Amino acid sequence: MRDAQPRSIRLADYRPPMFLIPRTALHFELYEDFTLVHATLGLVRNPASDERGPLRLAGEGLELRELLIDGEAPVASRWRCDAEGLELDDPPEAFELCTTVRIDPRANTALEGLYLSRGMFCTQCEAEGFRRISYFLDRPDVMSVYSVTIDADRRRYPVLLSNGNRTSQRALDDGRHRVVWEDPFPKPSYLFALVAGDLACIEDRFRTRGGRDVALRIYVEEKDLAKGDHAMASLKHAMRWDEERYGREYDLDVFNIVAVDDFNMGAMENKGLNIFNTSCVLACPATTTDAGFQRVEAIVAHEYFHNWSGNRVTCRDWFQLSLKEGFTVFRDAEFSADLGSRDLKRIEDATLLRTAQFAEDAGPLAHPVRPDSYIEINNFYTLTVYEKGAEVVRMLHTLLGEEGFRAGSDLYFERHDGQAVTCDDFIAAMADANDTDLGTFKRWYGQAGTPELTVEDAWDKDSGAYTLTVRQQTPATPGQPGKAPLVIPLALGLLGDAGNLRLTLEGETPDGEQADNTHRVLVLEEPEQSFTFTGLPERPVPALLRGFSAPVRLSYPYRREQLRTLMTRDDDGFVRWDAGQQLMVAALGDVQAARAAGTTPALDPLLAEACAALLDPATPDPAVAAAMLALPGESTLVELAAHAGGADIDAIHDAREWLRAALGEALEDVLVRCVRRHPPAAAYAPVGEQIGPRSLRNTCLGYLATRGDTGLVLARAQLAEADNLTDRLAALRVLAQAGDATERETALEGFYAAWQHEALVVNHWLQLQATLDLPDAVERVTALMEHPAFDLGNPNKVRSLVGAFAGANLVHFHRADGAGYGLLGGVVEALNARNPQIAARLLTPLTKWRTVPVRVEAMRAELSRLAALPALSPDVYEVVSKSLE
Ligand code: ARG
Ligand code: ZN
Repeated sequence: MRDAQPRSIRLADYRPPMFLIPRTALHFELYEDFTLVHATLGLVRNPASDERGPLRLAGEGLELRELLIDGEAPVASRWRCDAEGLELDDPPEAFELCTTVRIDPRANTALEGLYLSRGMFCTQCEAEGFRRISYFLDRPDVMSVYSVTIDADRRRYPVLLSNGNRTSQRALDDGRHRVVWEDPFPKPSYLFALVAGDLACIEDRFRTRGGRDVALRIYVEEKDLAKGDHAMASLKHAMRWDEERYGREYDLDVFNIVAVDDFNMGAMENKGLNIFNTSCVLACPATTTDAGFQRVEAIVAHEYFHNWSGNRVTCRDWFQLSLKEGFTVFRDAEFSADLGSRDLKRIEDATLLRTAQFAEDAGPLAHPVRPDSYIEINNFYTLTVYEKGAEVVRMLHTLLGEEGFRAGSDLYFERHDGQAVTCDDFIAAMADANDTDLGTFKRWYGQAGTPELTVEDAWDKDSGAYTLTVRQQTPATPGQPGKAPLVIPLALGLLGDAGNLRLTLEGETPDGEQADNTHRVLVLEEPEQSFTFTGLPERPVPALLRGFSAPVRLSYPYRREQLRTLMTRDDDGFVRWDAGQQLMVAALGDVQAARAAGTTPALDPLLAEACAALLDPATPDPAVAAAMLALPGESTLVELAAHAGGADIDAIHDAREWLRAALGEALEDVLVRCVRRHPPAAAYAPVGEQIGPRSLRNTCLGYLATRGDTGLVLARAQLAEADNLTDRLAALRVLAQAGDATERETALEGFYAAWQHEALVVNHWLQLQATLDLPDAVERVTALMEHPAFDLGNPNKVRSLVGAFAGANLVHFHRADGAGYGLLGGVVEALNARNPQIAARLLTPLTKWRTVPVRVEAMRAELSRLAALPALSPDVYEVVSKSLE
């Protein structure tokens, strides 16, 4: 909290650190009401810096108790300390700095630094939390070898953990004990971690390819012991996969994971001691959905993969965040695709990107994958840095091929092991290993905004030549009025009556018998380019952007029959799904047009037929069928409409509900038959063979919810008989949404009574209610904030209730009287001082005021009210001020 306007940090101002800290020894004395941190730092001047003058160490919320330079207290005039750190005049070239600070983890509600969560001490240091633990050069390019001593009460805190290997353990006086941890790998302070608590653990082993025997432990509260197996299995899969796909082995004798209830993000890759939000590590059939199991697997893998992409090779500064996050998200996406369904994973990722990331790129907080300035770095753990960053890495993979990409990543790890580097270094390794120039490609890192591709085609019947003309353009974003063309891999195929056509570009010799010449990656790099395919027997339907080969918007004037062709016949799962979605968007357009004209909408028979075909028993993959049957989400539709000039949220909602009901009516019998064909498995398992049919059945149930008793009867039976959370929640949603008030309240209360002791299930219960389409949705959420199950101090609960309401219950969040905005603004205000990171993150839906023309006044009014509050945290200040600009 500061009074003066928080200042921007700029990439252009980067200077190497004045000093380095090769060695760090920390000694923690943990007590409930305070903690003493003794730090002994070996500092040496950095030969790469020519800066002179006082040395500043970062420190926030620390009460300095002792300060020694080379064992002596410095003269008072030679040092000073303020709210942001400690300054030492004319430091020696090399010296030992000892500090003792007192901190109060119990009062730490921001969950950054060292804090207490349900009686357990834990840390979160990324990005700049270490400065809340000790005075330090708290920046990722200062890497140090740590030795950590922890003293605590033995009974209350039997488990004391930090990074690396445990080297000693002994009893102290007064019922306390001491444990020492040494981490041989130099690491930046953001990877430091400490945990102290009364925890149980599940244990396993892994032998690396090189023969290292690694002890794997997952620490949880005793009551959750049975929920760690899935994470353990996922961890072992991830360790094996990284050896096989990237040649990366684990490098310590232990790998620990700790689950904590109060956590701002999903999880954290601290060296050898990953700390996880309980929601991202605990899993069992009764408390975790199918999607939840997959999420645990993906996040466990993500954090594990960081051991190389993030820890062994780390970031020079926080502008390079995507260096580790984009790369690691790409790695975990490929892991999930290899272990599960590649098509589905791609569909999910494309959906996330096209709804949320495109919206971010089109909004007031748009920034490049490598931002060039920030006020609060915590605001930059965004979809752009993570997901778009991963797409940039995927494009490299597409352009270089699997082998070339692997050669590049091998070179990157070899060249930079133990270093703190930049996105440029990553690209240089990729380019050098492939003897190519990626100079233009690098624009993806510096240019914000979603590129738009406009495709036109021409057919010359006489010569059999088919020409695609592609224009690219990236819209202006804040601070970036003009954009340069980007290197864009456009994967495609051409469909003829009998299937995929062989592709020969003008000037090439046709490859006669070569098998796989039906798929092509065109590399775009000019504002406009044409490609002519020759020797075609008929005018093809272009299957464009196969595999979602680039994070772009693509427009081509497909006719509906062409979409239907792609939907059934293209080889690529993403194209098939996307064609179906486009057909649905067109049908929704019909409904909106009819409504606007005051006429009765009619269901597009082509769409009804396509959906019926997906429900046919002959459809091979039920999981893909379910994804294809799902209507585009409201956020997707709002994003599309906003891009076209402005979204009418009520009209979108109305059209979508109309179409759901129309399909429910037209397909009632097939839907019911499909539900019957996919009864619950005898015993639940979160495996593909079950997840697909389950998801198809529950998708059908969602449509049948519009059919009165037909849906209710099925849902009641399913709720009564289900042995897993996926089926229970799907049924509960139908009863709560489509049942009468008595049915709704009885079902919701019954569910709460049964599951109130399982925090993660209660979060689903909160989230389900937050997203119900009921006239009193706002009031329900407000009332739930007073429910004993809610806790403003727990980020998971805030996200489940308030975050879900504002992000996913659009018509009610945007209620005409502004009550939804008031609700959100009130929570942000309450959290501003208490947990600024969460407060700022919650604000996202309110920053999108430009997309909703009829609500601009009300949304801006709430933002302005927040902007005028005294003592805004830098986090909230940055989001509010940038979105009002
Ligand atoms: N590095 C973590 C990850 O794997 C995220 C930590 C974010 N922490 C924060 N305070 N913003 O994605
Ligand atoms: Zn990460």
